[in-house]
Amino acid sequence: MNNDPKIIVALDFAVSSSALALAERLDPAACRLKVGKELFTAAGLVVLERLMRLGFEVFLDLKFHDIPNTTAQACKAAAELGVWMLNVHALGGRRMLQAAADAIANTGQHPKLIAVTLLTSMAQEDLADIGIAESPAQLVVRLATLARDCGLDGVVCSAQEASLLRANLGKAFCLVTPGIRPALASLDDQSRVMTPQAALLAGSSYLVIGRPITRAADPLQALRAINLEIGNIEIGVQA
Ligand code: C5P
Repeated sequence: MNNDPKIIVALDFAVSSSALALAERLDPAACRLKVGKELFTAAGLVVLERLMRLGFEVFLDLKFHDIPNTTAQACKAAAELGVWMLNVHALGGRRMLQAAADAIANTGQHPKLIAVTLLTSMAQEDLADIGIAESPAQLVVRLATLARDCGLDGVVCSAQEASLLRANLGKAFCLVTPGIRPALASLDDQSRVMTPQAALLAGSSYLVIGRPITRAADPLQALRAINLEIGNIEIGVQA
């Protein structure tokens, strides 16, 4: 089994019992888990610790965005929980990003610190509303470059942006992409989706996948089927 599974299963649940029941049906050797704002706000540390005790590495998706000192302290606290990955908003700026990276380096833990560039829910007109004239693609490259220059390990981005970012930011930069749908899966509320293979070929490092696995009749079988499908793909190689 791959010791660096590419799939991060999004545990988008409102209560810990549902999240834990699903986790118990998965395999820590075959995926990581993402705990976001809903589950963390509802179930906090208890669920995080129980997931880690089941053997899973956890991406704590809380997207910190605050003044540098507050963000740094939040990142330090998250690192000390033992999470595998955590994130901040790149729009917090250079000093905030550097403070976050420094805070984590000083903990002795080595979680991956990644940045959200521009939320994929933001379109050109939303940028205009907040006074940004650049196109979303230009802004995403600018913010990802800033994150890399501040010592972050990577960014969360749309799979549609992965090849552009891979070309601009090099092989080592970590690209975490949601909006993934196996060829025959329901789109749910996602619109611009990519298949797991296409996303990896475009340069994604890790795939965030929720409902195609969490709502499957057999979540482990769905996870294994996707892992089988992507088994031979070399990360970041252009199609
Ligand atoms: O169920 P589904 O595969 O659509 O879940 C995708 C996960 O990725 C959810 O947790 C969602 O919040 C997250 N996400 C996303 N699009 C973004 C950023 C995060 O779908 N741009």
